Amino acid sequence: MTLLHACRGAWDTPDRSGDPVDLHDHALQTAALLRRSHPADKELQVAGLVHDLGHLLRPGDDAAHADHAAAAVGPLLGHRVAELVRLHVPAKRYLAATEPGRPLSQQSALTLRAQGGVMTHEEAAAFAAHPYAEDAVTLRQADDAGKVVGLDAGVMEDWRPVLELVAGAVGRPTGSRTPR
Ligand SMILES: [Fe+2]
Ligand SMILES: [Fe+2]
Repeated sequence: MTLLHACRGAWDTPDRSGDPVDLHDHALQTAALLRRSHPADKELQVAGLVHDLGHLLRPGDDAAHADHAAAAVGPLLGHRVAELVRLHVPAKRYLAATEPGRPLSQQSALTLRAQGGVMTHEEAAAFAAHPYAEDAVTLRQADDAGKVVGLDAGVMEDWRPVLELVAGAVGRPTGSRTPR
């Protein structure tokens, strides 16, 4: 929660040349879209909430921001959340390959090359075989839509109990886990 609150007034690029909403509003918008489309999947929603914390943790490292965020949240929020966070950049590269006409924000299009560019046919096939591929694409679609200036997507504190629920389930046997 401390990191998420620190996203207010923090941006994906240190010089603010990137996306038009700060990381705080982007997190809230992305998570709210996922809550609407997948109300039962708390892990997916939480992954949307924390997916860009890498920009806060290592400002300026666009290429690896998803990996930084995944490494940071994994111990607290579990393997699936960490994987969904990590996959939000590969999902962009995958969608660029499979839906070439799909619009990206100016900043997302700009950073695509530094992040590995459009996936090759082989890379896309490997991505599609990942057990979380579909959820990662869903997260990516919310990510791309969650950049609306001035859109009120709620209050960060409202996510505390959801984070606690997901964190509380980490380490329990999969069958007994509730957040999904
Ligand atoms: Fe990102
Ligand atoms: Fe994002």
